[in-house]
Amino acid sequence: MRIGTLGAGNMAEALAGRWVAAGHEVTVGARSPEKAAALAGKIGATAGTLREAAAFGDAVLLAVPFAVAEEVLREAAVPAGRTLIDCTNPVVPPEMALLTAGGPSAAERCAAAAPGAHVVKAFNVCHEGIWRTTPPQPDGRPLGVPLCGDDAAAVAAVEQLVRDLDCEPLNGGGLARAGQLEATAAFVIGLWFGGGDPASMLPPVGVAMGGEPHVA
Ligand SMILES: NC(=O)c1ccc[n+]([C@@H]2O[C@H](COP(=O)([O-])OP(=O)(O)OC[C@H]3O[C@@H](n4cnc5c(N)ncnc54)[C@H](OP(=O)(O)O)[C@@H]3O)[C@@H](O)[C@H]2O)c1
Repeated sequence: MRIGTLGAGNMAEALAGRWVAAGHEVTVGARSPEKAAALAGKIGATAGTLREAAAFGDAVLLAVPFAVAEEVLREAAVPAGRTLIDCTNPVVPPEMALLTAGGPSAAERCAAAAPGAHVVKAFNVCHEGIWRTTPPQPDGRPLGVPLCGDDAAAVAAVEQLVRDLDCEPLNGGGLARAGQLEATAAFVIGLWFGGGDPASMLPPVGVAMGGEPHVA
């Protein structure tokens, strides 16, 4: 697959670096030609402007702060029909309040700023360091990656990119649910910041809906 990145920071490096290693072609797009070239050289990609990266990618990873996401998308002009992966978290640590509260989700704002692109919300829960891990299996099993999107082909493409990281896609439904995924990430990250273990609040799938718990 051809992948463009909008941004040349931590998330672009972590995800696109793994995708290059998995055999994908990547163009790193950034406002700074020097930073785009530096990351491209580091991970084995080519470098370009935001607009060139958006034009290159069958899938385009938006990896900039939420505060500038819409402006970057307008500058990049992602062509219609492309898959646009939104990994932004519309929060400011450590309070983790949602900057989108009372309005459209970050993903829905991205969709409005990139008309015709097929937005898929994904990769927003875990720290970039997790995506660099090979394989990212912190508790010994494949990491689940929830994603939300409306276009079946775009969702399938991102599911493949999830599997290329040795992770397991979790179908989170349509883009209307992306706000729930963004809120989940904000809440979970807040628990991590507080030293809590969010995984401990989730029972195993076999008993989560009322099945009999296993008694040792
Ligand atoms: N880091 C994580 O662990 C993590 C995890 C999940 C989700 N996320 C989300 O992923 C996104 C990217 O995070 P990151 O950690 O990769 O950030 P980062 O390392 O700070 O990189 C941000 C990138 O955005 C670019 N940028 C900033 N303002 C811009 C503007 N006005 N126009 C064009 N480009 C601009 C930066 O370019 P310059 O270098 O020129 O400033 C840089 O390439 C964020 O929305 C974050 O919430 C991050």
